[in-house]
Amino acid sequence: METFVAAFTPVSSQHNASLQSEQSEASVRPLIAGNWKMNGLAPQLRQIEAIAASVKAKPPLADILICVPSTLIARAAQCAGGRIGIGGENCHSEMAGAFTGDISAEMLKDAGACAVIVGHSERRQHHGETDAMVAAKANAAWRAGLLAVICIGETKSQRMDGKALSVCGDQIAGSVPDGMTLSASAVAYEPLWAIGSGHTPTSEQIAEVHAHIRRCLVVRLGAAGREVRILYGGSVKPSNACEILAVPEVGGALIGGASLKATDFEAIVNAVSKRAESSLAALA
Ligand code: PGA
Repeated sequence: METFVAAFTPVSSQHNASLQSEQSEASVRPLIAGNWKMNGLAPQLRQIEAIAASVKAKPPLADILICVPSTLIARAAQCAGGRIGIGGENCHSEMAGAFTGDISAEMLKDAGACAVIVGHSERRQHHGETDAMVAAKANAAWRAGLLAVICIGETKSQRMDGKALSVCGDQIAGSVPDGMTLSASAVAYEPLWAIGSGHTPTSEQIAEVHAHIRRCLVVRLGAAGREVRILYGGSVKPSNACEILAVPEVGGALIGGASLKATDFEAIVNAVSKRAESSLAALA
């Protein structure tokens, strides 16, 4: 299977070499992913052009992915020029068939996608997607050679009831198929109460859940579970990105609203470099 990183990311910057040799936690490049949701007509593609241009001017220390509505994938991939990855936001588990209005992972790939989000809470809530359906979609993504970004996260009331860890553990158990690898998947922890709300968990809360997710992945997958990136998502913005990306076991971010504006998204991408610079300064 072609790897997500090798598919489009310039990985040879000097920054990156020093980051990888001196920072154990950063040995896997962070993944900064946008999720446009049901937003974007043709003029919105200018944001992709702008992000691709800034990636060309200053190669980032992260893999960059923007997941867009299916109608924009082919044009977005053209605008991205191979500099950033373009992904879908959902797929059907079957390759083809009588599923009116659905789209397969193979179709996303054919249109120019290299990744797909599966199990976003908005799909789970509004379309009744179960863990088993999400696992089938992740398998479909792998079958097509796409990176699957598998989303999990608790509701506000589940958190209030002290169930955040058990809910996420159960979702990992049910939504992550066997055979998950770094190059084929990422897990996105997105507490539902943080999505689009402007409220984010504290760094301690994020650290606690990410550590739990890591434990679940290692128990489930062994060595591969140690390197799979765990993204945080939910009201990530330029003003909080540095703090969130510095939390242990946060391997990147899944960004909704702030991914719609190139300048905001770029500021979040730059937070990865800032984090790396301050870590290197601390080591010096
Ligand atoms: P948000 O959305 O950044 O607008 O909170 C995140 C997501 O739903 O993936």
